[in-house]
Amino acid sequence: MKNNKISRKKFIAHSAKAVAAVSTAQLFSSPLLAGPGTPLSYTTTFEQSPLSYAYNALEPIIDATTMEIHYSKHAAAYCKNLKEAALAEKVDSNKPLEEVLVKISKYSAKMRNNAGGHYNHELFWKSMKANGEGKPSGPLLAAIESNFNSFDAFKAQFTDAGKNRFGSGWAWLVLDKNKKLIIGSSPNQDNPLMDLPAVQTGVGELKGFPVMGLDVWEHAYYLKYQNRRADYIENWWKLVNWEFLQQRYELSLKM
Ligand SMILES: [Fe+2]
Repeated sequence: MKNNKISRKKFIAHSAKAVAAVSTAQLFSSPLLAGPGTPLSYTTTFEQSPLSYAYNALEPIIDATTMEIHYSKHAAAYCKNLKEAALAEKVDSNKPLEEVLVKISKYSAKMRNNAGGHYNHELFWKSMKANGEGKPSGPLLAAIESNFNSFDAFKAQFTDAGKNRFGSGWAWLVLDKNKKLIIGSSPNQDNPLMDLPAVQTGVGELKGFPVMGLDVWEHAYYLKYQNRRADYIENWWKLVNWEFLQQRYELSLKM
């Protein structure tokens, strides 16, 4: 499989370019996301990015079959359906997907489900690697310790968000518009960028930039873990690509 691992230099260069494009587009016109701390570190395209690791790279925590089905069937379908919705609803798919997400209430349910599904999975693949660092460092660790008292307390709260999300959905670590880190979860393929009323998302004030997301749909773990979502989450921590998430967090602070 093609190795497209993002170097820090390339990531920053790409991100700076994307930031400029997003500023020009005045992306965050939504009152929920506008103002200081406007959260976006880089943009997402309407295409599925190649995985930077093989399907079996995350074994034994995530088995190769789960990864293959998840990436090449589930996530690929979100991408395909997103492009169909974009065509039908006259959305320019050369623009950042975030432009759609922050105004998702104006679009169809098909757009909401598949734009969310595509964005969430694109982030999820990049947030994992074989033999994760186990713990962040630098400003992200400092912010986590400041917001949640300790890394262990953060981990417990995030784990609970994933375990307690009823049905299918995602657990999130979010940088809100006040640059504070918050934890929550969303149903289905919704995410914290979407301009959905709290009553629809059930996530209260979980609005802002998604620093980290964990897929707790059964398709992410059922083959290996069956109904044991808690075991999947506990093991998933060993795969977290903290280097990538640190870069993502540090860049989002500059927005
Ligand atoms: Fe998924």
